[in-house]
Amino acid sequence: MSKTKKIAVISGDGIGPEVVAEAIKVMKRSEEMFGLSFEFEHGLFGGIAIDEKGTPLPQETLDMCQKADAVLLGAVGGPKWDNNPQATRPETGLLGIRKALNLYANIRPAFIFDCLKEASTLKPEVLEGTDLLVVRELTGGIYFGDKFRRETEQGQEAVDTCVYNVMEIERIARQAFEIARTRSKKVASVDKANVLETSRLWRETVVRVAADYPDVELEHVLVDNCAMQLLRRPSSFDVIVTENMFGDIISDEAAMLTGSIGMLSSASLGDGAFGLYEPVHGSAPDIAGKGIANPIATIMSVALMYRLTFGYHEAADCIDNAVKEVLDAGHRTADIAVDKSKAISTTAMGELILAAM
Ligand code: NAI
Ligand code: MG
Repeated sequence: MSKTKKIAVISGDGIGPEVVAEAIKVMKRSEEMFGLSFEFEHGLFGGIAIDEKGTPLPQETLDMCQKADAVLLGAVGGPKWDNNPQATRPETGLLGIRKALNLYANIRPAFIFDCLKEASTLKPEVLEGTDLLVVRELTGGIYFGDKFRRETEQGQEAVDTCVYNVMEIERIARQAFEIARTRSKKVASVDKANVLETSRLWRETVVRVAADYPDVELEHVLVDNCAMQLLRRPSSFDVIVTENMFGDIISDEAAMLTGSIGMLSSASLGDGAFGLYEPVHGSAPDIAGKGIANPIATIMSVALMYRLTFGYHEAADCIDNAVKEVLDAGHRTADIAVDKSKAISTTAMGELILAAM
């Protein structure tokens, strides 16, 4: 029996609680199968926390997350809170929790299930073998630099400043190399070093960090070229590491190779093993309460947690293989079904995955 791990569960709004419930069942099954041990604590977060506590991220929820070994998050938001002022918007809780927990690396795997190739807009032969992971820097760059406007003789002018320091680049590069070691040992560092000074510092720093990982192959790709290559030869990428804004764009592009938002998992990491795991999708108010949401993104976020935070590789493989088996057998929730009349419910999908495990 391994040491008990504390999991902070913040399932949030809309379909968040529906998909998180299935993910927890999967974790409980893997406890029995692999001798793992988890202690689940639940906290209010997002819109529901606004309703009950007046803030999207109550202090007790943050304390609970800080004491945990990992956080499992559903999704937040909904029309009910859309017109709230900034401080009491569910999304403010998302930014707040990442910042408070110093989670500076956003990790998004994108891979193709053979049986779901029809869901993508790209040709099957282009997608063949695609299995990549984007590591996006989350806390620096142009999103966080000084921004202001000023009057000039030509009229109003706006300025956004892109700033990166060596420490910020080094820590994200290390994350990427560490993850690459658990995969195909290839890192593509994406920058615009032919134009931007921050990118030149980025490249120098990545090259220096790479010296500590001689077993990992490093290539530098200019961001415009990367955008093209992702559509032309996505299978040639393994780990892609890049700064905040490039990562925002590239990670959405990579995600869409796979065709369906209900399938995409993600992690946010800081220093050490602690991480926050969540599906890429939102709270889907249009289908909330109907029991038809696809739980796979959240279930695969658990597999990501097992790999990146706990090193439970066998249990992670078991989950991923079970998902694949269920999809190969033709079972589909509505979002990924070609024939919607045959679509199965959230809990039915969860049960099938448990059985396949
Ligand atoms: P969304 O991801 O919630 O939904 C987009 C579309 O995909 C909808 O048609 C929805 O039904 C469908 N969809 C999403 N997840 C699904 C799943 N697991 N199974 C089946 N279908 C699924 O994005 P949208 O509609 O832009 O945002 C809805 C709310 O969620 C907003 O309040 C937004 O701010 C919030 N949001 C929260 C995020 C988070 O908590 N990390 C991320 C994105 C949006
Ligand atoms: Mg984005």
